[in-house]
Amino acid sequence: MKKPVIIDCDPGHDDAIALLLAFASDALDVKAVTTVAGNQTLEKTLRNALNVLDFAGIEVEVAAGAAKPLMRDLIIAPEVHGESGLDGPAFPPSKLKPSKRGAVEVIVDTVRKSDAKVTLIPTGPLTNIAMALISHPEIKEGIERISLMGGACFGGNWTPAAEFNILVDPEAASIVFGSGIPITMCGLDVTHRAQIYEDEVETLRKMNRKVATMVAELLDFFGKFHSRFGFKGSPLHDPCAVAWVIDPGMIATRKLHVDIETSGEFTTGATVVDYYNVLKKDKNADVAFDIDRERFIKMIFDAMKHYD
Ligand code: BDR
Ligand code: CA
Repeated sequence: MKKPVIIDCDPGHDDAIALLLAFASDALDVKAVTTVAGNQTLEKTLRNALNVLDFAGIEVEVAAGAAKPLMRDLIIAPEVHGESGLDGPAFPPSKLKPSKRGAVEVIVDTVRKSDAKVTLIPTGPLTNIAMALISHPEIKEGIERISLMGGACFGGNWTPAAEFNILVDPEAASIVFGSGIPITMCGLDVTHRAQIYEDEVETLRKMNRKVATMVAELLDFFGKFHSRFGFKGSPLHDPCAVAWVIDPGMIATRKLHVDIETSGEFTTGATVVDYYNVLKKDKNADVAFDIDRERFIKMIFDAMKHYD
């Protein structure tokens, strides 16, 4: 049976690829897409999700969620994702319309109605997920796991200590990591190993498919940002959280205790990973450290063959 999943995202170049990977998979039944403010404002991340899905011919309920973090001002990332949040390819106006329902309502209702437990795949700040868990704690029973992109055991990308998604809404992250729901944390430790190189972007372009070409154009833009920081390729952060759900054997994880720093002078937004089990606390996350990169890139290539 296909695994029912909900993708909560802030597209975002890598979020867009995560969506395409999930919808191409025979292992997943994507019940809904919800959007959150993060890489750009909510208005833009919603528009980007609709544009990408419509471009790929995907029909699904797309619901907008939180326009700002639970307790803080929004931080956005135009340096990485451009003014639109998805700079690079030109998208025709989307014919897909956003749902009349909000993200929390869609998440709660989908979990309640599903026969099988639902896996949540958040690839942006955790605001929507935290709001759903706080307002409807009973849905925890219906959630199989949360496979998220966020955090890092060793070093941040937005501050020396914090990864972007967790930094934007640390209070929400704290609620999610403290929820008791099994968590797979695909943080920078793994996603920086999940890079796609320039020659592989060219392979995508040479597929002569509309969607693969659009992805190559996304990666042209995304790659320029990363090359300035000495990356060999573009880290495909968000697709890792999807890839783990499709093929967990591809990603090496360790069961560890993770707390979220919400008030540090230098460390707000850090995922404090008890790597050496100093605290002897419950292990609340499977933290990802390594990936079979070539298998992962092949998975991305294969996914593109599902689209025009
Ligand atoms: C994360 O932040 C965003 O820029 C990406 O979409 C990814 O979810 C990486 O830190
Ligand atoms: Ca993202």
